[in-house]
Amino acid sequence: MDELLSIRKSFQDEIEAAEDLTGLQQIKIKYTGKKGLLSAKMKSLSSIPPDKRPAFGSAINEVKNFIEDILTQREVLLKGKDKEKRLQSERLDISLPGKFIPFGNGHPIVQILEEIKDIFSSMGFDIEEGPEIELDHYNFEALNIPKDHPARDMQDTFYISDDVVLRTHTSPVQIRVMEKRKPPLQIIAPGKVYRCDADLSHTPMFHQVEGLMVDKDISFSDLKGVLELFIHSLFGKDTPVRFRPSYFPFTEPSAEVDIGCIFCSGKGCRVCKTTGWLEILGSGLVNPKVFEMAGYDPGEYSGFAFGMGVERITMLKYSIDDIRLFYENDLRFLRQF
Ligand code: PHE
Repeated sequence: MDELLSIRKSFQDEIEAAEDLTGLQQIKIKYTGKKGLLSAKMKSLSSIPPDKRPAFGSAINEVKNFIEDILTQREVLLKGKDKEKRLQSERLDISLPGKFIPFGNGHPIVQILEEIKDIFSSMGFDIEEGPEIELDHYNFEALNIPKDHPARDMQDTFYISDDVVLRTHTSPVQIRVMEKRKPPLQIIAPGKVYRCDADLSHTPMFHQVEGLMVDKDISFSDLKGVLELFIHSLFGKDTPVRFRPSYFPFTEPSAEVDIGCIFCSGKGCRVCKTTGWLEILGSGLVNPKVFEMAGYDPGEYSGFAFGMGVERITMLKYSIDDIRLFYENDLRFLRQF
C-alpha cells in the first residue's frame, strides 16, 4: 500500500513537470504501460495472501483510474498548448511584400493591331481573313495587276509555284470577300504578308490591315471621313492628314495618305526626310475593273479600299527606328510596351 501511495505521489510530481507531449508519453509508458509500474503491481497480486487481494486490487485500480484521468486531462491541455505554439511559430506576416511574378504583355504589333481593329469595329466594320498562301489570281490578276507588272517581280514575290504565291499584300481578301458577300459591306482584313525584302524598315514577313467598303454611292469623301477618323483615333485628334495622288492598279483614283510628322510636328526632320509628312497608307476608290472581276456591277456599286502596314504605323507611333527589333524577341525591348 505504501508503495502504491509513493507511485501515486511520484506520478503527480512527474506529471507536474511534464512540459510537452513526448514527456507525457514517457510518463504514460512508465506508469500505465504493459511493463509499467501498475502492471507490475497487478502481477504482484498473486504473491499476497488471498484475503487481502480484493482490497489491494481495488486500491491499484483506483490509482490506475486516477493516473489515467490525469493523463487524459494533461494530454488535452498539452495538445492545446502545442497547437498554440505552432500557430505562433508558423505565423504568416501577410503584410510582407509578395514575390514578384512578372506579367507578360501583348507584343507591340499585336497591341497596335488590336487598337486598329477596335477603331474600325466601332465604325461598324467586320473583320475578315484570307489565306497567306494565295493564288496568283487573287493576289494579282483579279486586282488588275497583269503578268508584266513590276510588283510581280521575282525579287518581291515569294513564288511557291507558277500560280501560287505567299500573298504580298492583304488586298486579295477584298476579292475573296466580294465573291462570297453582297453589298453593302464594310470590312477590314488584318494579317501577315510576305515580300522578299530586308533592311532597317523591311522584313520578309510583316502585317497589313486591308479595308474595303462597298455600297451604292460611296464616294471619295466617305474614304476621307473614315480614314481621318481612324488616324485621329490612333495618333490623336490634332494630327494633320493629307491625301496625295498616287497609283495602284486596283483603285482609281488612288491616294497615299500622309500624317503630319509626329517627330518634328511638321517642321522637317530626319524621319520625315525634311518633308514634314509621313506616309502611312495606300487607298483609293475601287477600280471598276476589280468589281467586274469579282462579279459586282460597277454601274450599281462603288466603294473604297485602303491598306496599311502595321509595323510602319507601330514604328511611327513609338519612334522605333529598326523594324528588326520586333522580331528579335529581346525582352528588354518588348517589356517597354
Ligand atoms: N495593297 C497595297 C499595298 O500593299 C495597299 C492598298 C490597299 C492600296 C488598298 C490601295 C487600296 O501597298
